[in-house]
Amino acid sequence: MKNINYSIKKSIKFLKNNECIGIPTETVYGLAANAYSKKATSKIFSLKKRPKNNPLIVHYHDLKGLKKDCYLNKDFKKLFEKFCPGPITFILKLKKHSNIAQNVTNFKKSLAVRFPNHPVTRSLLKKINFPLAAPSANIYSRISPVTKEDVLEEFGNKIKYVLNGGRSSIGLESTIIDLTNKPKIVRLGGLDTKILSNAINKKVNYKFNYLKSVKFPGQSKLHYSPGIPIKLNIKNPKKYSAYLLIKKKKIENKNFFYLSKKNDLKQAGKNLYKTLRKIKKMKYKLIEVEKIPNLGLGKTINDRLTKASFK
Ligand code: TXA
Ligand code: MG
Repeated sequence: MKNINYSIKKSIKFLKNNECIGIPTETVYGLAANAYSKKATSKIFSLKKRPKNNPLIVHYHDLKGLKKDCYLNKDFKKLFEKFCPGPITFILKLKKHSNIAQNVTNFKKSLAVRFPNHPVTRSLLKKINFPLAAPSANIYSRISPVTKEDVLEEFGNKIKYVLNGGRSSIGLESTIIDLTNKPKIVRLGGLDTKILSNAINKKVNYKFNYLKSVKFPGQSKLHYSPGIPIKLNIKNPKKYSAYLLIKKKKIENKNFFYLSKKNDLKQAGKNLYKTLRKIKKMKYKLIEVEKIPNLGLGKTINDRLTKASFK
């Protein structure tokens, strides 16, 4: 975290050269490029092996930048006031004359936008005159990274630079709300949907059929996956499996991996991807998970584990 000004300067140089770099956010690390450049953003797709029809989230420092690209509505303004910068992504109508590269949206008329709350990345965003397209910095369908080292594990020397910002404090991706029509949650995330719907005084629906495929890849099928079978709601784990827990048990076992010892869902969220990465490295062949309460961030954790459990 030393010499942060130097690291930011270096990041800007790469970004201006149409290169991709890793950036820290409070949710997960992103693989960032100039959102106004087709050349730069096309590198994101090839590095991640991401299907071209899966649009990217664009990161802004403030409203001034966003207004050039999107139409802002009332619900957006309320939510922005309350939760930004923070772990929420909005889908808004894209302005016709916006400079956003067309491959960012896959030629759609909407754009996913976010204001990350990480001091290092905020300071980077403030110093550049273009927004940053940044999906999570992992190879497509794999576990999202929460440290600089995780990003390097995914891409090695295929990317030029990773801006270090320490460990992501939330550790789960942002909540995505579609505001182009009636407000609708399209991905559960780091911000509890109840708090969100209270803020706009509207019921915000999230109905997701995990078995049916949906419009946007990455929101349905195998995703966030360590590449190991995962079984949920397990009371009596097998001896050879890695067992994920959130409540301290009387007995100890070397295959127990605590996401939290106090049933603390925030802490469990922060530890989820880190722990899955560790288990993968230890070459376990099966992951079993204790029942996780389906409320607040527990819903997001269950969502990620369910998606990761698909074959
Ligand atoms: O926390 C986060 O949101 C992280 C950090 C780096 O900001 N980013 C992230 O990006 O999770 P990504 O690309 O891994 O996930 C973005 C999701 C994808 O599932 C994509 O399909 C959806 O957002 N998305 C992007 N643009 C969209 C649009 N116009 N309409 C609907 N969904 C969209
Ligand atoms: Mg992702």
